[in-house]
Amino acid sequence: MDFSGNVGEWQRNVSEGKAGKHRRMTVIEALNIQSGQSIIDVGCGGGHLLKELGMCVGGKGHISGLDNSRQQLENAKAYCSEYDYIEFIEGSATDIPCDAETFDALAAIQTYEYIEAVDPALKEARRVLKLGCPIAIVSILWDHCRFYGADEALNQTIFDAFKAHCFHQMLPMELSHLLPDSGFGSITRQNLSYIETTLHAGMAGFYLSKLMALFATTQGVSDTDAELWLSQLQKADDDGRFGFVNFPVLTMATAI
Ligand SMILES: C[S@@+](CC[C@H](N)C(=O)[O-])C[C@H]1O[C@@H](n2cnc3c(N)ncnc32)[C@H](O)[C@@H]1O
Repeated sequence: MDFSGNVGEWQRNVSEGKAGKHRRMTVIEALNIQSGQSIIDVGCGGGHLLKELGMCVGGKGHISGLDNSRQQLENAKAYCSEYDYIEFIEGSATDIPCDAETFDALAAIQTYEYIEAVDPALKEARRVLKLGCPIAIVSILWDHCRFYGADEALNQTIFDAFKAHCFHQMLPMELSHLLPDSGFGSITRQNLSYIETTLHAGMAGFYLSKLMALFATTQGVSDTDAELWLSQLQKADDDGRFGFVNFPVLTMATAI
């Protein structure tokens, strides 16, 4: 998926909301970050995690934000402008322009499901991590993500079209064998699932529904059907029968 334009804006809106904050705080806790450490955020998007990592490591530390979208990096730079020890790298997770064994921790929040060659990307993550250091990967069980309240057939049409938005629908399940093959051990998982029952600005489902509707129109769904689906969700919210469930999973592992 191309994270420029409206898509990038809605993605950053999701990260700013409650669900986005919760996953970042969980990642920060799990990485057990210490002052002075050097950490990389792979697929840093709008830079929300970068700023929080910057606060954790302090001025003696170093934070690198890698993304292959120039627009996302521009937003990240603006968002983190007061931190001179946060660096922004335009590049791919499959070819990180950093020396081997540079980082004390690596985070990738909702990045690897968008990378077809996820195996080389994980090997690259292992290359830039120091021995014994942790990787934190958040990815979504997309097959289980669901909106409730719209006409069921139309809902299914939108979800079917949305499958093409990423390469890996169930990455947390694939990581069990991919991580050991890429030089990681001690794998653990944490469920970050959540339910929303209202549809308004600030809620992840509000932005994700817009993003899904827009993406569906790039996959052959008509503008009329995409608009109808959004209006049905809005009506369901007005009637008090709206629902959205999402299933992010935090996978932790150690470089061995
Ligand atoms: C869903 S967004 C998540 C952004 C951020 N981690 C967050 O949680 O707000 C996915 C990000 O991964 C980036 N991305 C996708 N493929 C990438 C690749 N091969 N290398 C680096 N970044 C990539 C996108 O540009 C986008 O900013």
